[in-house]
Amino acid sequence: MAKKLNNDQDFFLLNDKYVLLSDLMKVEKDTKIELDLGCGTGDLALALAERKKDSLIFAADIQINRIRKVAKKGKRAGFDNLHCFRVEARHLVSIILPDGCLDRLHILCPDPWPKARHSGHRLMSADFMMQISRVLKKDGILHFATDDEPYMAATVKNITESGLFERLGNDALADIADVKTEFERQWLA
Ligand SMILES: C[S@@+](CC[C@H](N)C(=O)[O-])C[C@H]1O[C@@H](n2cnc3c(N)ncnc32)[C@H](O)[C@@H]1O
Repeated sequence: MAKKLNNDQDFFLLNDKYVLLSDLMKVEKDTKIELDLGCGTGDLALALAERKKDSLIFAADIQINRIRKVAKKGKRAGFDNLHCFRVEARHLVSIILPDGCLDRLHILCPDPWPKARHSGHRLMSADFMMQISRVLKKDGILHFATDDEPYMAATVKNITESGLFERLGNDALADIADVKTEFERQWLA
């Protein structure tokens, strides 16, 4: 017998939430939209939702249990600007999101796939640069962080060679400089 889904259908972008996503995005022209992609425990998305009440904050992760917990925390805190999606990152960025919709895309500590034979699984591939650029607004910001040096070097190379981005100073992230995600905390420790 199929299990009852409770409210999980709210997390799935490819069925009813897909329609809701376009409804969600019918916002005032100057409303800021930020996405925490592969949000894990959602520290950044939750901090953004708390600090930027007039912005729309999307948290996305492929793991349903993680996204459930983030949604629960957001609900408990009364954040009605936080929307949580259980979705595959490439699917969301390459297919589901419309052009030029994000002010900031945060990709923090994505799975590094350190073994050379697995490096093709990394999210920040050369092809993905085009899709990131597509979903960002004209002055939109890509915020990427990893403690894995080979992954950082490969990503910087892909970003640079794409010719689609220019490097900004730390001011672009000054409002969230104090926020540390679960994996950043582990890395700093
Ligand atoms: C290493 S954790 C980092 C979590 C968080 N960003 C942080 O800094 O603490 C990577 C997260 O990305 C999610 N993830 C991995 N592959 C994914 C994919 N293809 N699409 C969406 N999320 C993915 C994992 O479930 C996990 O929560």
